[in-house]
Amino acid sequence: MVIIASPEIEETDESVVRSRLNGKEDGNLDNTLRPQSFDEYIGQDKIKKNLDILIRAAKKRQEPIEHILLYGPAGLGKTTLANIIAKEMGVNIRTTSGPAIERVGDFGSILTNLQDGDVLFIDEIHRLNKIIEEVLYPAMEDYKLDIIIGKGPSARTLQLDLPKFTLIGATTKLGALSNPLRNRFGATHRLEFYSKEEIKKILKRSAKILGVEIDETGLEKIAACSRHTPRVANRLLKRVRDFSQIKNHKAIDSVVASAALEMIDVDPLGLEPSDRHFLRTIIEKFGGGPVGLTTIAAAISEEVKTVEEVYEPYLLQIGFLARTTRGRVITETAYAHLGIKYDNQSKLI
Ligand SMILES: Nc1ncnc2c1ncn2[C@@H]1O[C@H](COP(=O)(O)OP(=O)(O)O)[C@@H](O)[C@H]1O
Ligand SMILES: [Mg+2]
Repeated sequence: MVIIASPEIEETDESVVRSRLNGKEDGNLDNTLRPQSFDEYIGQDKIKKNLDILIRAAKKRQEPIEHILLYGPAGLGKTTLANIIAKEMGVNIRTTSGPAIERVGDFGSILTNLQDGDVLFIDEIHRLNKIIEEVLYPAMEDYKLDIIIGKGPSARTLQLDLPKFTLIGATTKLGALSNPLRNRFGATHRLEFYSKEEIKKILKRSAKILGVEIDETGLEKIAACSRHTPRVANRLLKRVRDFSQIKNHKAIDSVVASAALEMIDVDPLGLEPSDRHFLRTIIEKFGGGPVGLTTIAAAISEEVKTVEEVYEPYLLQIGFLARTTRGRVITETAYAHLGIKYDNQSKLI
């Protein structure tokens, strides 16, 4: 039999983002502050409403919920949502990630160890290798696992029945998912960036959990720099809290928050030194673009994946970067923000 070890998560979209945006300790921060129920999960109202109906109907029928695909930039709450879904269903969740599943045997072991109704959460599902994907199709569709025993002419196929599980996949790149895989999900939800008001609510909740005193102006200031992303908001809150403790401030207001953010070099739009370096490099080395993704990655010594999944989403969102058929282009707004003169009309897109 092929089945043995069970792989653990190695590199997820979270770890990539954390390595750049967050310190190591922020993995714990994520867990401490992670909402445990739909009530605590702020925003994404449409998704929550849909999931709530789905879950209640499935419970009534005493069936597992259909397979769900969650996509959107890192730090918006995909992992959190997967955990809440399992909790609301009252089932176990088994977490792994696309790149962590290397061998069919490992994957078989994960599948056969599930129980009826359990949630299997595969983070970064777009990085699943093709052979594993082939195993996943019949598992998702008919709860069957095909196993080949032996080699060469004497090889036989054995089909195992799997428990009726729910697959929740998360990805930052929907486009990188193969069509057959995408089509096997019963529901696909795109997580949106959060409004400033929502981020303020999240910060308020986090401050309470961390025992941090912060007023409305402090919340406002941190929210404005949070890239509309809960994970970034929480991380900034923690940095600001550390600063305010060292300086012996009793509570965080906009003055304390501004000073702290300035010290860690986060600008009013939430751009960090690495973001400004990214933009400046394209401007200085490539005249603002158009320039190809791999060229940019090489120029700033980052992996293509990191550029695509960490640097670009927010810069695209705020309109500092545009994707054209000829490559990436820095927009006039970005020049203005950096205080660089925009003089090349031919770049207009
Ligand atoms: N809707 C939300 N409400 C409150 N906090 C949130 C929400 N979404 C995310 N967070 C916070 O942000 C952190 C990162 O979320 P996570 O689910 O790990 O994002 P993703 O998996 O999409 O990268 C969580 O630990 C949680 O503290
Ligand atoms: Mg995640």
